[in-house]
Amino acid sequence: MKGFLEDANYSIGLLDEGATLADIIDNCIYEHTHTGKRAFYVGDLGKLVKKNTQWQNVMAPIKPFYPVKCNSTPGVLEILGTLGIGFACSNKSEMVLVQDLGISPENIIYTSPCKQASQIKYAAKTGINIMTCDSDIELKKIARSHPNAKLLLHIATEDITADEEMNMKFGTTLKNCRHLMECAKEFGIQIVGVKFHISSTCKDLQTYIHAISDARCVFDMAEEFGFKMNILDIGGGFTGSELQLEEVNHVIRPLLDVYFPKESGVNVIAEPGCYYVSSAFTLAVNIIAKKTECDKLLPSGVEQARDDEPVFTYYINDGVYGSFASKLSEKLNTTPEVHKKYKEDEPLFTSSLWGPSCDELDQIVENCLLPELSVGDWLIFANMGSGTLGEQSTFNDYQRPLIYYMMSFSDWDEMQDAGIASDTLMKNFFFVPSCIQLGSEDRFSTAA
Ligand SMILES: Cc1ncc(COP(=O)(O)O)c(C=O)c1O
Repeated sequence: MKGFLEDANYSIGLLDEGATLADIIDNCIYEHTHTGKRAFYVGDLGKLVKKNTQWQNVMAPIKPFYPVKCNSTPGVLEILGTLGIGFACSNKSEMVLVQDLGISPENIIYTSPCKQASQIKYAAKTGINIMTCDSDIELKKIARSHPNAKLLLHIATEDITADEEMNMKFGTTLKNCRHLMECAKEFGIQIVGVKFHISSTCKDLQTYIHAISDARCVFDMAEEFGFKMNILDIGGGFTGSELQLEEVNHVIRPLLDVYFPKESGVNVIAEPGCYYVSSAFTLAVNIIAKKTECDKLLPSGVEQARDDEPVFTYYINDGVYGSFASKLSEKLNTTPEVHKKYKEDEPLFTSSLWGPSCDELDQIVENCLLPELSVGDWLIFANMGSGTLGEQSTFNDYQRPLIYYMMSFSDWDEMQDAGIASDTLMKNFFFVPSCIQLGSEDRFSTAA
């Protein structure tokens, strides 16, 4: 990997033993109170190192390919690249981002189910050969733009418990795999493996059993056609919980041993996204406006208060057109915490939280209990690392939150023990003593 953090325009605060994430948040809030109360993230990059150790302990030898779309901020990509992880890119910009870090084409797969021809040509030009495919139209397009491509057939999974329709929309049937193989033969393109993805909302781990068995059928089918298959991609869907990782491993391991034993030469890979980044990022937002039920009609979905208790509507400076974009398609995987101290016996009121766009879709929390808050107070959301971080949004003059990266000394030690801490890397860390004084904002932050 070339130039780890060498030309990066951000730094990582290395925390003294006594300093915590809460101290960093307090300190940033203190600074922002004087400089405009912009929303900000604190990204604990040490968590990525820990997650990787956990992955190696539980899932090795399955190699992770991190989906860049989950969080493409430079600190995340550089740490993951240094840890030797591969990358799953869904477009040219993502390919460019990871190539700029010096990641080699063998460690990049192109996974969008709907690829633009010009971007397939870009992949061809830069030696990115492995890409997913789930239809004959896509296959023909790839054959025309990248004759040396190596395809992973993306098969659909049958998760009847999933809330989302992702698996319905993308991925093909076993029957269609035969047709795709015929097309591949006709167009002279290689098929080298199978991909499936099971959403983290899947409650039934049996879905993995069906998916791996289906994958085996496709491998057998491929043999008939004379394709040499050597990759099985089991997708993402790992929540970040060690328990879930162990449960999935418990289900898939015996099957992999039977259907894809080591001697078969099949490399099993995965695309854990949320797993790595979700818990690493905490978002702090500021309340910019407040209404009580007597000021306005309640938005739909907000229940009328019991008796004559007030109901509060708070508007914060980040919303679904920014950091809470995932709220448009899924449930929010976090609850707001009030930053300021309040008494244990302080009354709690029915409240709803809205983003700054004044758009009816921009509701972040429909209904929660909070003490009465004021304009200027801060709310903290944990587990915000996966979603729009790193993407551009131009909606409604949205000001992107700043990002403050940090790492604890013990995680730093772990990186050194793993032999991945270089002098170049060290230059980008700066020491944060337990009595925190971060100094100038520029030293520490980067816009998302
Ligand atoms: C369709 C799809 N969505 C999402 C992901 C990432 O999933 P997660 O962030 O849940 O690991 C993947 C990775 O394979 C995917 O294929």
